[in-house]
Amino acid sequence: MLLLGYDIGSSSIKVALVNAADGSVLGTAQHPETEMPISSPQPDWAEQNPEDWWEAACVATRKLLAKTLVPLEQIAAIGIAYQMHGLVVVDKESQVLRPAIIWCDSRAVDIGNQAFAALGADYCLENHLNSPGNFTASKLCWVRENEPEVFAQIDKIMLPGDYIAYRMTGEICSTVTGLSEGVFWDFKSNALSERLLEHYQIPPTMLPDIVPVFGKQGNLSPEAAAALGLAIGIPVGYRAGDQPNNALSLNVLRPGEVAATGGTSGVVYAVSERPIFDPQQRVNSFAHVNYSPENPLTGVLLCINGAGSLYRWVRENITHPTASSRRMGYPEMEQLAASVPIGSEGLSILPFGNGAERMLGNQNPGAKILGLQFNRHEQRHINRAALEGIAFAFVYGMEALRDMGIPIRTMRVGNDNLFQSAIFSETIATLMGVEIEVLNTNGAVGAAKAAGVSVGIFGSPEAALTQGIALVTIHKPLLHNRSELSKAYLRWRKHLRETLSITGTVE
Ligand code: XUL
Repeated sequence: MLLLGYDIGSSSIKVALVNAADGSVLGTAQHPETEMPISSPQPDWAEQNPEDWWEAACVATRKLLAKTLVPLEQIAAIGIAYQMHGLVVVDKESQVLRPAIIWCDSRAVDIGNQAFAALGADYCLENHLNSPGNFTASKLCWVRENEPEVFAQIDKIMLPGDYIAYRMTGEICSTVTGLSEGVFWDFKSNALSERLLEHYQIPPTMLPDIVPVFGKQGNLSPEAAAALGLAIGIPVGYRAGDQPNNALSLNVLRPGEVAATGGTSGVVYAVSERPIFDPQQRVNSFAHVNYSPENPLTGVLLCINGAGSLYRWVRENITHPTASSRRMGYPEMEQLAASVPIGSEGLSILPFGNGAERMLGNQNPGAKILGLQFNRHEQRHINRAALEGIAFAFVYGMEALRDMGIPIRTMRVGNDNLFQSAIFSETIATLMGVEIEVLNTNGAVGAAKAAGVSVGIFGSPEAALTQGIALVTIHKPLLHNRSELSKAYLRWRKHLRETLSITGTVE
């Protein structure tokens, strides 16, 4: 039996085929190979066309099938992980009405802040665990206020993963974890939040029906099967946001363990046994994939929007300034960065250039290069300062998790993105005094295995996820580097605090 998993990211769609017998990965593919476009028609907006996700999913699937040449009838179930907090709106014919407003779009920050004040901080934190913030419900309210002609035509709203599942099965549905990630969920009444919907004037009928995260959510329709190149009727048996999915994929379950990723955004995700929240809202809490009222497992999520997005920007615009110049690979960038001492000889970079940062109270200070000296610094210093700056942002945010009493002893990460950089990983490991375990898995592989639970191949998510996972490497704290790194971190933090007080934040 084979299992197929998708990771609907904002930079590309990845797909993996897993052998259920031993958890081995038969193949992976992604599309596009470079970066999917994000359009920004206004400053701090970020939109994508849901049709582009679907087309990329179709191309990626066909590439994978061409590589692996497996008998299609052996594919037993499909799982989906997806970029969180986005908004897709469709009319009665299920046609998309406007581009999706994605996770790093900041247009709804003020709407969320006003709702937090109007509904009351205590109410929001106790019932939603979060301020409505810049999440999906606030984005939908933005559409109501600013595009009334679009709002009037909306029949249903979906998260990005719900939309892909809909394109596969024809069924429009969501999950409790999904609705909580949109801040539509009331944890006290264990139902859609009537009060928030009323405040935002959103009819509850716009919200999709709820299906379990692990369970048959629909079957591949004839049209979808033809477009993907798969057999008709395969059950879609799992969907979850990319970050809870990452934690599940990395088998992060015990106190002291956290999952992390350094993709476009940087995330640290801990699983708590009961609903907890950060009164300062530097980190957010959502229903975890296996949340139930009886076992209220809650994911606590630190998100840094400007993470891999900064390093990619450096690669594309600094190492590759013109269309004809050669684009440097990440290993080469790392080598150059390693030739610069810790602290980048006085250069600091704040990585916050990808929309409002939740851990900074939804402020949007933008990215900053500080301390640049023309006679001293070269491109290699920018490489190192970018890696250090992103790592320092992780450390800064992880202090918020520790303030909430969340112990962090081990971080677990997949073997991709920024954690492939030793400079980046060792900076975090050393400053936080944690070990970073790199495992040979990724979100698409995790989603594939999780789908196996829905068709009874695995008895539980734990049984599915522990199989076939191996440790690739461990980044340990480097005690001899600690004092130099601490100095560089404190300088970076001072720059951040000065920047925030200039833009008006009281920390
Ligand atoms: C998590 C978040 C991002 C997206 C990226 O809260 O906003 O990590 O999920 O896809």
